[in-house]
Order: sequence, then structure tokens, then C-alpha cells
Amino acid sequence: MKKTVLITGCSTGIGAAAARTFAENGWNVAATMRNPKDGEALKALPGVEVLALDVTDEASVNAAVARTIEAFGAIDVLVNNAGYGTVGPFEAASQAIIARQFDTNVYGVFNTTRAVLPSMRARRSGVIINIASVGGLTTFPLFSLYHATKFAIVGFSESLGFELAPLGIQVKMLAPGGVSTDFAGRSMVPTFEGDGGVYASTVATVTASFEGFRGGYSSSESLGKAIFAAATDGTKQTRYIVGDDAVAMLEARKGMTDEQYVAVINGRFGLQG
Ligand SMILES: NC(=O)c1ccc[n+]([C@@H]2O[C@H](COP(=O)([O-])OP(=O)(O)OC[C@H]3O[C@@H](n4cnc5c(N)ncnc54)[C@H](OP(=O)(O)O)[C@@H]3O)[C@@H](O)[C@H]2O)c1
Repeated sequence: MKKTVLITGCSTGIGAAAARTFAENGWNVAATMRNPKDGEALKALPGVEVLALDVTDEASVNAAVARTIEAFGAIDVLVNNAGYGTVGPFEAASQAIIARQFDTNVYGVFNTTRAVLPSMRARRSGVIINIASVGGLTTFPLFSLYHATKFAIVGFSESLGFELAPLGIQVKMLAPGGVSTDFAGRSMVPTFEGDGGVYASTVATVTASFEGFRGGYSSSESLGKAIFAAATDGTKQTRYIVGDDAVAMLEARKGMTDEQYVAVINGRFGLQG
């Protein structure tokens, strides 16, 4: 029987690429997004249904899950992909900026997971794939809030796996390194206005250094394939580090003390330790 995946954040980037990969492999795909008008190209693919879903809106989550089950009979795999990054000094972030970051990247994952669990439990089958980040396992300057959400997802995923495994449901976490998507553009929300005030020199130095990181990223297509592979590999692997940059970064950190890591990152970003 044809299997079904529900993916969040399919308007662009990794989510859209994952939707294409599952469709190419003959799956039913509930390609969900905030604005279904962004899904015209995906809608043309066989087996793809484009549905409205804002992860911060429980009613829209529940409606999309119900519609997927009605259309395809079940949800075999949930991919929690929707997310964005808040960047800038923590002190400059308003409560609204912080709440939006956590509502999307953390509570959004809780909302969709809660919505699919009853039907997965009833069938004693399912895979939940959470797209965290290498930034859920290690850190860079000026991303404290984004890291806080992705570290939360890493911990949530691993712990949730223990209680769901006896019910036949697997939880897997993907930690991509840099991926060429809109993420570094429209999905990057600053915490600050102007030059960053008392943090201006850190903001200027780190921003200039990040320019040097552009390029050499994984493609969204390769992430789509990595997500599909994780969903279908039949193993109990729980963590997938995706991208040569992510693998190299985490390997390098393993060999360092925390003090050495901080010194390396300060050096990389031109910051005074
Ligand atoms: N690109 C990277 O370097 C990278 C690295 C590691 C991890 N990641 C993670 O990968 C995931 C996808 O990012 P991407 O790189 O593909 O960036 P992207 O191209 O900017 O896509 C982000 C997606 O998230 C959606 N989204 C944002 N808020 C949402 C909400 N409230 N409800 C539903 N959808 C929402 C966006 O939808 P709209 O079009 O409606 O805004 C868009 O479809 C994120 O979780 C990100 O943290 C990315």
C-alpha cells in the first residue's frame, strides 16, 4: 500500500525538496504550508496534496492532519521541518520576538506531533522526523535564541523516542549543517534594530565573518534525499548529521575542551574572548 508523509514548511527550501523526493518515490505527500498558493508547483506532482498548515495554529494543524488521513487513510511519516532563525544579541530581543521563535520552532513541533500521535498509536506504526540543526548540538555567536530552540528539539526528540518506541513509533532527528535555501535570507529575523547598540562591534564582526561562510553548503535536494533515507532505512538510528560541514564541525568539537572550542569560535569570528 502507498505510504503517506506529512511535511511542514513546504513552501520553499528543505520542505519543498523533501516533498518532491517523497513524491518521486511514489508516496502520498501532504505538502503543508502557511499559504497554499505557494504550492502550485508541488500540486502538479502525482500523489501530492497541498494543505494549509501554520504550526503555531493548533486548529490549522488538526485540520491538516484530519484532511490527510481522510484523503490518504493514514500518516506513516511526519516531517517537522518548518522553522526560522532569530539572530542578534539576546538582550535586544523583545518578548514577542522570543515567543514567536519558540512558538514556531518548538511549540510548532509539539503541536504537529500531538496531532499525529493518536492515529500512529492506533496503527502501532509511524516515524516522526524532526529537523533540528547542527545548531542543536553546537553553537555560534549571536544565535542564542535559535540554538535554544534547536537544542530543545534535540532533547525532545531523543527522550520522546523512549516512550513511543514500545508503541511502534520511531522518532528521528536530523541535524543539517548549512543548506542553500532562503534560510539565511528571509528566514533570518534580527533581534535588534540599527547597529545593535552596545553590541554593535560584535554584530559587525560576526556579520562580516558569516559572509565568508556562504557557499559550500548542502543543496536542499540533498536534504530531501537525506530525510527520505532516514524515513525509510528501517534502522533504529535516532540522529542523522547531514552535510560535510556539520560532520566536520562536530568531529572537531569532540576533540576539544570547551575552552578550546570557545577560543576556536572566537578566532573564527574575530571576537575577543
Ligand atoms: N538552511 C539551513 O542552513 C538550515 C540548517 C539547519 C537547519 N535548518 C532548518 O531547516 C528547516 C527548514 O529551513 P529551510 O532552510 O528550508 O529555510 P526556508 O527555505 O526559509 O524555509 C522555511 C520554511 O518554514 C516555513 N515556516 C516558517 N514559519 C512557519 C509556520 N509558523 N508554520 C508553517 N511553516 C512555517 C516557511 O514558510 P513560509 O513560506 O510561509 O514563510 C518555509 O516554508 C528549519 O527548521 C531550519 O531551522 C536549516
